[in-house]
Amino acid sequence: MNCFLVGGAVRDKLLDRKVSDRDWVVVGETVDSMLAAGYEQVGSDFPVFLHPKTKEEYALARTERKSGKGYTGFEVNSESSVTLEEDLKRRDLTINAMALDKNQQLIDPFNGQNDLHNRLLRHVSPAFVEDPLRVLRVARFAARYHQYGFEIAPETASLMKQMVDQGELDHLVPERVWKETSRALLEKDPDIFFEVLRACGALKVWFPELDVLWGIPNPVQWHPEVDTGIHTMMVIQQAAKLSDNLAIRYAALVHDLGKGLTDPAQWPSHREHEELGVAPIRALSERLKVPNECKELAIMTSEYHTHIHRALELRPATILKVLNHCDAWRKPERFNNLLTTCIADAKGRTGLENRDYPQAEFIWNAYQAAMKVEVKSIIEAGATGKNIKLRLDEKRINAIREFKQAYQPD
Ligand code: CTP
Repeated sequence: MNCFLVGGAVRDKLLDRKVSDRDWVVVGETVDSMLAAGYEQVGSDFPVFLHPKTKEEYALARTERKSGKGYTGFEVNSESSVTLEEDLKRRDLTINAMALDKNQQLIDPFNGQNDLHNRLLRHVSPAFVEDPLRVLRVARFAARYHQYGFEIAPETASLMKQMVDQGELDHLVPERVWKETSRALLEKDPDIFFEVLRACGALKVWFPELDVLWGIPNPVQWHPEVDTGIHTMMVIQQAAKLSDNLAIRYAALVHDLGKGLTDPAQWPSHREHEELGVAPIRALSERLKVPNECKELAIMTSEYHTHIHRALELRPATILKVLNHCDAWRKPERFNNLLTTCIADAKGRTGLENRDYPQAEFIWNAYQAAMKVEVKSIIEAGATGKNIKLRLDEKRINAIREFKQAYQPD
């Protein structure tokens, strides 16, 4: 069988990166001949098969032509006469349009290797515009390969802008947007994904609550970088350094959406942005169908990040209130994630990237001290009904007070 390794596997092999998925293209075969050779058909839109042993994906070489709006209506031709070059031509980027044959010879009709060498993300052909998801894919690849110095070719950037201007991105479905976004958030430089989307206008289409943050000032004594959009990008950079957890990275991204709702007459102050942030976080999370774990941490971060920043000044009763609101008792991991997101927020400011943040350890240890209070002892002492909770809160406040009195910052 005439099989070629294609797509991301070839690209990442040439970049010396770990190859996770291997995709193959088969030339000169038909559905029937594949089935006869023992392959299992899986694709419904076009012929894709699983190898009987390796279970890797083998697709018949095909051409695609768009015949409808958005994601619907592709005319697919996968006759056995379709050549490898025709199949490579329908692909998004030149670095994704290379193939390796059985003898490890590179087939590279669109000079992908050259673009790989020059660190360029460049579209293969004008047919790039037929798939609006590619705008998000290019942004995601830009985030992933930023570490190697990749940039988007100017002609590709202007094509992306044109697609956005023509409303093509309106036809995407939320699931696909979130899939690309969540993958981008987990890349090494997630901020680049959002910068690329902003530059081509796509951020305004799918993330309007985020897009408005550029141009909104903060007080310079807390935020030397001043601009809320820039701050947000710095916070996800810090979050990416601190953790691989998707919820933390998402919460970092949206923690200041409330600042988009401050009356400009109040700028650069943002009183109550913590509470104001809840509605836009909900709106964005629901539009993109973001998983609950991400949405919940994001809302909690918006509501409590200022409290956590002030942890050392809070009264014991207020600390308990924060712990109760965050349900730290039943969700310790989520509370820990909140603290990590707050560290990212504190460090995501110009010149403050290496600051200490004793607040996180302080409140975590206060929480541990409060955890030591045992409900059992309260019940044994005779408390019943509502009084159990009242006594528990009292004892927890005392435990936090004792911890606070003994606390010695390093
Ligand atoms: N492809 C495309 N347009 C898309 C999706 C995919 O042209 N909208 C092509 C590209 O050639 C890509 C290949 O199909 O390389 C495989 O797609 P996929 O597995 O989604 O991506 P990879 O390039 O393998 O990237 P990743 O490492 O992110 O999985």
